[in-house]
Amino acid sequence: MALKGKSILLGVSGGIAAYKSAELVRLFTKAGATVQVVMTANARQFITPLTLQVLSGQPVCTNLFDLEFESQIGHIQVARAAHLAVLAPATANLIAKLAAGIADDYLTTVLLATTAPVLVCPAMNTKMYENLATQKNLETLRTYGHHIVEPSEGTLACKEEGTGRLAELPEILEVAGRILTPATLKGKQVLVSSGPTWERFDPVRFISNPSSGKMGYAIAQVAARRSAKVHLVSGPVSIPAPRGTTLHRVTSAMEMHDLITRLAPQMDVIVMAAAVSDYRPAQMLPQKAKKVGSDLTITLQNNPDILAQLGRSKPQAKQQILVGFAAETENLIENATSKLKAKNLDFIVANNLTQSGSGFGCDTNQVRIIDRSGDSTELPCLLKEEVAERIWDRIERLFQ
Ligand code: C5P
Repeated sequence: MALKGKSILLGVSGGIAAYKSAELVRLFTKAGATVQVVMTANARQFITPLTLQVLSGQPVCTNLFDLEFESQIGHIQVARAAHLAVLAPATANLIAKLAAGIADDYLTTVLLATTAPVLVCPAMNTKMYENLATQKNLETLRTYGHHIVEPSEGTLACKEEGTGRLAELPEILEVAGRILTPATLKGKQVLVSSGPTWERFDPVRFISNPSSGKMGYAIAQVAARRSAKVHLVSGPVSIPAPRGTTLHRVTSAMEMHDLITRLAPQMDVIVMAAAVSDYRPAQMLPQKAKKVGSDLTITLQNNPDILAQLGRSKPQAKQQILVGFAAETENLIENATSKLKAKNLDFIVANNLTQSGSGFGCDTNQVRIIDRSGDSTELPCLLKEEVAERIWDRIERLFQ
């Protein structure tokens, strides 16, 4: 969402990873950005301007002295229009020219002329990347305030193993989004809980629920994008941790309880999006339970209500905002409102699990936010990331 309506100047230089720029253009446009591609002459050996022109829907800039193109757009106009310049792949040569302030082609000239932030995504052979000259040039770019997404490790096109692969494209998108997002949560310590808990009754079996963790992870990701220091306490899920967050993995409700209780006093905001199991088996068998051919009874005992405890023990010395979730299958508003009060929350995000496009596992959610004053606002069905943005907008208003 951070990229919606933004103008991205995508600089493509001449390395084999230039072929990935096609997918990058697609991802940026899918995220709602306009992409103006600028290619070096060597990049055109790896991918044609036509490919990137079709994908971006914009004429691609290649030749500084193209009479027709310059009369229509002009490189200074391209430099001015950009909200962010992304160089992917950035070769050692482009990085060196940028560090030295050389402007001998379209891309390097535009980069000298733009005041937009610059995101450099190096991709090259390991030895070239490790070369002192390249490292010094990257250091120089950092002193200019440019952002760098480090290349990853792996097998490179030259068959060598090592660092030099272009960073994963979703990571480049996430960093771009972060650069373009105002740091409205800078200095805030935030804890987000997410995912299900597993309550074991023998070493291989447990009681749980289908929570995917997507909602909590989106909440953590949006907070990190707004520059909060984020602790993500996650039950077992199969999605990767959002960039820039500290991930704490837990399995059971008791583990989640112990960790959150330890971290809570330092937090400015706690959002409990985890689907914490209310009960756990009273006994954990040391070995796998044998099939005996008759019914099996498992006695369950109460788990602590983590959120209710946090509501009772809010720190005196600082303003701490507590947000809970209420997943309901009936009487949504009544049940959510009584939880809001019982757990002493600032607001509660209520969703109806019986509604399509809502709740466990989906990429979307349709929620209602109910606060202490009794205000109850129903949001339309949105992507979980958009719901997360609305939640943080609301939290930021409480800080004001
Ligand atoms: O009462 P209920 O479980 O429906 O409340 C849901 C809210 O309480 C969620 O925010 C959930 O993360 C939190 N919760 C908790 N500890 C539990 C159960 C739920 O913190 N044992």
